[in-house]
Amino acid sequence: MIQVNNDSKEFHLSNGHVSYIFHVMKNGQLGHLYYGKALTHKKSFSHMQPYHVPTPNTAHPFADDPAFSLETSNQEYPSFGTTDFREPAISLENRDGSTISDFNYQSYEIYSGKKPLQGLPSTYVTKEEEAQTLVVTLWDEKIQTELRLSYTIFTGKPVITRSTELENKGKEKVDVKRLMSLSLDLPESNYEMVQLSGAWSRERHVKKRKLESGIQAVSSLRGASSHAQNPFLALTDPSATEVSGEVMGFNLVYSSNFLAQVEVDHYDVARVTMGIHPFNFKWELKPKSVFQTPEVVMVYSDRGLNGMSAAFHDLYRKHLIKGYWQDRDRPVMLNNWEATYFDFNETKLLDIAQEGQTLGIELFVLDDGWFGRRDDDTSSLGDWFVDKRKLPNGLHSLAQKIREMGLEFGLWFEPEMVSKESELMKTHPDWIIQTPERVPSYGRNQLILDFSREEVVDYIFERMASIIEDTKLTYIKWDMNRNITEAYSSSLAISQQGEFYHRYILGVYKLYDRLTSAYPHVLFESCAGGGGRFDPGMLYYAPQAWTSDDTDAVERLKIQYGTSLVYPINSMGSHVSAAPNHQTSRSASLTTRGNVAYFGTFGYELDPLQLSEEEKKIVKNQIRFFKEYRQLIRKGEFIRIKSPFEGNETAWMIVNEDRSEALVGYYKVLAIPNPPKNQTLRLSHLKESTSYAVTALNVTEEKAVAEESYFGDELMNRGVPLKTEFNGANHAFAERHGDFQSDVFYLKAENK
Ligand code: DGJ
Repeated sequence: MIQVNNDSKEFHLSNGHVSYIFHVMKNGQLGHLYYGKALTHKKSFSHMQPYHVPTPNTAHPFADDPAFSLETSNQEYPSFGTTDFREPAISLENRDGSTISDFNYQSYEIYSGKKPLQGLPSTYVTKEEEAQTLVVTLWDEKIQTELRLSYTIFTGKPVITRSTELENKGKEKVDVKRLMSLSLDLPESNYEMVQLSGAWSRERHVKKRKLESGIQAVSSLRGASSHAQNPFLALTDPSATEVSGEVMGFNLVYSSNFLAQVEVDHYDVARVTMGIHPFNFKWELKPKSVFQTPEVVMVYSDRGLNGMSAAFHDLYRKHLIKGYWQDRDRPVMLNNWEATYFDFNETKLLDIAQEGQTLGIELFVLDDGWFGRRDDDTSSLGDWFVDKRKLPNGLHSLAQKIREMGLEFGLWFEPEMVSKESELMKTHPDWIIQTPERVPSYGRNQLILDFSREEVVDYIFERMASIIEDTKLTYIKWDMNRNITEAYSSSLAISQQGEFYHRYILGVYKLYDRLTSAYPHVLFESCAGGGGRFDPGMLYYAPQAWTSDDTDAVERLKIQYGTSLVYPINSMGSHVSAAPNHQTSRSASLTTRGNVAYFGTFGYELDPLQLSEEEKKIVKNQIRFFKEYRQLIRKGEFIRIKSPFEGNETAWMIVNEDRSEALVGYYKVLAIPNPPKNQTLRLSHLKESTSYAVTALNVTEEKAVAEESYFGDELMNRGVPLKTEFNGANHAFAERHGDFQSDVFYLKAENK
């Protein structure tokens, strides 16, 4: 898979799906040659490095060769100021104040498999043959510093991952001001850039723009990957669609400040850069120490955005999400948050859980408010001791009673936070993040613990571990409701304050690592005021994430559609909540709320005691339906069919590996008066000449409605007939009425 030409000093990573080629340039630095669809290997690809006839103002490092300039070379890991004027991958400040570096090729190593990154989450393999890794070592003699670029190519997948290590082998410190995980010079810029942007309660909406000359970027400086931007971007052929055309996706396995940008230069070269955001970042690299960047996952697709998503989903399900829950069905959950908020006692919780159990729920989760004296969001974060006013018999007894009902028990924590009104704040006022002689800002009335300090992580680990053991928890929702301000750690030297954000997230990863190692059976769901930290870094530890605080089915179409560009369906926390919805005041039918929530982990976020008998019957049927098809939902390939960002309808489907089963979700947001007569939905990824029995889900009845049979080619070319829509006159037989309509179809190949 990795071929090296020692004469021309070229490296070619290829696996039949994708090729990645680079070489050593005449100045000893690395030049980039090609990234894209797999190429047949040949002796040399060096002709791909553009030869540039210099213009009068081209700067060049060799006096006798004005045609060689870094400005006009496609590079692999560029630095600034030695004839390249674009934003670099690396920027170091040396002891004399200079910022020039010159990393020259030294050697390479190739090994089977993939090694974990020190202290950071990353994709992994379980067998050596699943990947091959190339590590190229470069050296800057003046500052005695070694740069190691790692490339892993996964067997049989259009996936390459990259990361960078910098080791100071000299006697003086080096200040690292910028060390990106990825830099990629693409020879042209005729692409559209796709990004996932949003806000609290409307995360990861799909946005597209045409690349233009100059810099276009998405980033976060919030100490979390954020609701606003996701550490992802894709470049697509302008004519690419969901099913066709070239797409390159880039995703950073990191949960803190990031930068993902594309700089289009004056020769239409597009430089993609991704990594830790350099703003306010400075790492003091002491002699003999190493800095490891996070990893970037690069996916290539020639089957449009769906092809890219399929590769991300497959990789993340098998090589990122890990441990006990990696390949297991997740329990159908009932979370009490929107049912009670802070207002509960043991009886109320047990009644809710009991009703849930009757309906088919498998896991009961007690959300915020069980600890300290937390009656609202102004107090008690950090005091991880049960509130005996609400739960006089303690958590142990509550958990036991829940388990005796036949349910699993889970709890909410917000480990990184502390309330001003809390015992922890009184005991350890110095543990908060705070800049000396400045007043710390609040977010949701709370302050943040300094997770860059080991003793803070140790203390929270001890508190959580003791509760896990006492209550035999099998699930934890790890929330994080505000972003970092006044970033500073009193435990770090003045010269190291630029390390703060990264050290903070390393502390978060450390706690996750300790908890998941000590309690491998606990299912973690990450959460950050909903989807404010939905990134691959979190997925490595927590196999699912609360996708958004917004549980409104209509808004969820956009959020789940956008999230699915990168993240697998079984990582998306999705619940049915009450109507009117608490975030949008919209009232969608219980059926539609379920029809959206199936395409995720599935659960409920409402008080089942408030449901009518008719609604309880629907909920029972929904849960039974989900349990029956959850393996298909968890393991199948997810395909987006109609985008909520482009019209009134949304559709998606999940197909199993041998295309013998599929589940289709169709949603029409607003009713159209006197609508078109022949309404069908064209499906995808089926076998053309296979006959499928199509069953329209009907949760209001015990039995699903009668099956019809269609061949795959008809379903894909003409479409599955949608139910008859109300047109103002067809009262007698209309099956879809009003706004927020939806249908779920189950397809099963027939042996005919
Ligand atoms: C924000 C979360 O996203 C909600 O689901 C809930 O857990 C609240 N925090 C609790 O404070």
